[in-house]
Amino acid sequence: MPSAEANESRILVVEDQPVIAALLEQLLSAQGYAVACAADGLEALEHVALQPPDLIFLDLNMPRLSGYEVCRRIKGNPATRLIPIVIVTGEDRFEARLKAWDLGADEFISKPIQNVELLARCKSLLRVKRLNDELETAQSVLFALARTVEAKSPYTHGHSERVADFADQLAEQMGLPSREREVLRRGALLHDIGKLAVPDEILNKPGSLTDEEYAIVKLHAVKGAAIVEPLRSLRDTLPLIRSHHERLDGRGYPDGLCGRDLTQLVRLLSVVDVYDALSSPRPYRAALPMEVCVSILRENAAGGGLDPELVEHFLAVLHVGELMHATPAPIAFLGSRTASLSRV
Ligand SMILES: [Fe+2]
Repeated sequence: MPSAEANESRILVVEDQPVIAALLEQLLSAQGYAVACAADGLEALEHVALQPPDLIFLDLNMPRLSGYEVCRRIKGNPATRLIPIVIVTGEDRFEARLKAWDLGADEFISKPIQNVELLARCKSLLRVKRLNDELETAQSVLFALARTVEAKSPYTHGHSERVADFADQLAEQMGLPSREREVLRRGALLHDIGKLAVPDEILNKPGSLTDEEYAIVKLHAVKGAAIVEPLRSLRDTLPLIRSHHERLDGRGYPDGLCGRDLTQLVRLLSVVDVYDALSSPRPYRAALPMEVCVSILRENAAGGGLDPELVEHFLAVLHVGELMHATPAPIAFLGSRTASLSRV
């Protein structure tokens, strides 16, 4: 008897031999799955674009577009890469399997098809797909929440995206591995999510903050980490969220960490976060010119707050040398450095 789960799952069978396609369709439909069939690779991609299935059974040797190419395109597209692909083929050379796995195929079933094996693989891959979908939904909710923080204040609009872009450019320049760059990008997008808990009147206050108000603003680092913590798949980003206002000299918050307690990713995020805050308008001041931002960053690095090496790498990413040469620093701004840093 078909299960309720089966009734909700859509399966695409991609097979150029009508007899095998009909057999598979019959077998899967009898289990309650909604089955669609495609006779070649191009038709398969049209199906996927129109209505992404939950699972694909894919033949390798087909006219117009091979199964390898279909697999490569589906797994290479972020919107479809989580759809499990089971290669079903008479091809039994090990190299063929290796190539399919290399392109991201999830399972490999040989013809002639064993019904029990095929249904068992089908069930387990659909279970994994369902869990991935739930996880992705939960992550999407958090990233959407982080964007709503920016909607709370016109002054922080686009801040997290810019910080994520700057951080990624800096990480690339430093030659960091892609895994670390991904953690950094996610952490940068989420780093201020705790500002959800800060009242708009405080975020948008034009004058200076009272001690009580500043204490509330500072809580955003801890609250942000608490919001993201339940989602295990984002745990790697927690140090970035909690510690992005820590400073090497121990004068940051919330934990007063210093030196080696701060990972390279945290130090890196701090540099770009400070730069974007300085170079964007705030309720209590206009955006500072690049020369002034550079000057403040370097002064802060020399004072022991930001990592001096990362600051210089970042200034290289911004091509500051060429820009500074073209426009000399307006001295009038330099007196307000300390005040400018107090609310970044
Ligand atoms: Fe922050």
